[in-house]
Amino acid sequence: MKKETKDYSKYFDFSDAKVIREEDGKTTLRLNGRHIQIQSAPDYKDEKKRGKEEIRIHYDNAIPEDMRDFGRDKFYYIMTYGCQMNEHDTEVMRGLFEEMGYAATEDRKQADVILLNTCAIRENAEDKVFGELGHLKTLKQEKPGLILGVCGCMSQEAAVVNRLMSKHPHVDLVFGTHNIHRLPHLLRDVVFSREMVIEVWSKEGDIIENLPKKRDGMRAWVNIMYGCDKFCTYCIVPYTRGKERSRLPEDVIAEVRDLARRGFKEITLLGQNVNAYGKDFADRQYRFADLMEDIRSIDIPRVRFTTSHPRDFDDHLIEVLAKGGNLVEAIHLPFQSGSTEVLKRMSRKYTREQFLELVRKIREAIPNAVLTSDIIVGFPGETEEQFEETLSIVRETRISMAYTFIYSPREGTPAAAMEDNVPMSVKQERLSRLNALIAEMSLKSNQQLVGETVEVLVEGQSKNNPNVLSGRTRSNKLIHFEGPKDWVGHFMQVRITKPMTWYLNAEAVEPPQLAALSHGA
Ligand code: 5AD
Ligand code: SF4
Repeated sequence: MKKETKDYSKYFDFSDAKVIREEDGKTTLRLNGRHIQIQSAPDYKDEKKRGKEEIRIHYDNAIPEDMRDFGRDKFYYIMTYGCQMNEHDTEVMRGLFEEMGYAATEDRKQADVILLNTCAIRENAEDKVFGELGHLKTLKQEKPGLILGVCGCMSQEAAVVNRLMSKHPHVDLVFGTHNIHRLPHLLRDVVFSREMVIEVWSKEGDIIENLPKKRDGMRAWVNIMYGCDKFCTYCIVPYTRGKERSRLPEDVIAEVRDLARRGFKEITLLGQNVNAYGKDFADRQYRFADLMEDIRSIDIPRVRFTTSHPRDFDDHLIEVLAKGGNLVEAIHLPFQSGSTEVLKRMSRKYTREQFLELVRKIREAIPNAVLTSDIIVGFPGETEEQFEETLSIVRETRISMAYTFIYSPREGTPAAAMEDNVPMSVKQERLSRLNALIAEMSLKSNQQLVGETVEVLVEGQSKNNPNVLSGRTRSNKLIHFEGPKDWVGHFMQVRITKPMTWYLNAEAVEPPQLAALSHGA
């Protein structure tokens, strides 16, 4: 921790705040009758820097002895927005809470601590969080002892921290994506000082190992790397998640082995761009394909990964994925646009032709691969012809499903400064045309499965009908079929009876015990 006291006045644009204390690297302000203790605030300039400094790995992160009972008879509630990385961070925070003696609750009225783990990727994600903070204000008035915290990607934005300080004095704690392991210390600071506590580190180059993780069910996320150095011009992630840094293979493998021993059925390797795994290792040539090869030999039935960048998806990786086994044939490969011109302005660093060639290679090596993607419409200056290139690349690559988004300007990113002459009505109309095509592609790819018998990992009962179970195929297709609750958590064989647009109906062909013997993954 830096000990010098920073002048925070340049970060925040309110003039009515009074500095009341400066000590030990912390600045305490008074604003709207609330004391705000700033331990560290976000700084976009720092976040943009990609220094050569060494990545430090910290293994010793035990909860302080005096915090082990801190949450006894108390409850926590975490609301998670956004991507799998946030879901995973929530698992870590749940682990930390439970090591402090807190218990989970689903009833926010019962909670002593409520955290919003936020997403900054698009403006509507941020609007949802501010809406929720409005609702929670009433709860906080009814229960003044409640600790209300905001963490995740939005906390890394100076503008958001500014707004929280000036307009949401009922928030008690703001911490960033690099400060998760500090949660016990920060909670203690809030409880003892009764001030709003802010700690957001920028440009972090560290990896924190051995944090507790509270995972439910049979599937687990495994982080293999943090951050992103790609700086696609529309994207805020490189600013909110810091520079690319990979966990050591031995740490990842030890975690996967442990999950296998504990009976987990499926893992998903996580990173903003898993294909860049290992590029930051100074002392070894070990990349994502090598990691996948090593994980292939671990006895865990299904291994997924997300998310990929087409530029770093190399031949070695295709070769390893083609070996199958526990490496499933579902590949999420965001291409964002089908127009070389738009891709260039997005700084994606590949052309339409290069993407087509990559898909051709994948299809040749893994003929049953199911490809999915992320697509942005209405990027600044996107013409009708350029949008049609996106439609045609969806058809050419036979994408089965895609998450589609209208471009949302993010303050501080290069695209936010680009001239945008595409009216919102045109963007919306493009989005609905694209969505109609994606629905058509999804139905088509589901229709090909009629009559086939596929392996399903049964994940749970349908919310609407307890006789209906749902599960996923290796290729990540959602399957509904009738069966008893005790099949949940098992692999089984089902025959596809009716394809729908976003899921498939099926019938069981084997009870799960037999299927478990024969799935042989
Ligand atoms: N506007 C719209 N969509 C975005 N994405 C990332 N940044 C933006 C933005 N500013 C989309 C991309 C990415 C997915 C996670 O979110 O498609 O792959
Ligand atoms: Fe954002 Fe591009 Fe990095 Fe993906 S690769 S997280 S879109 S900057």
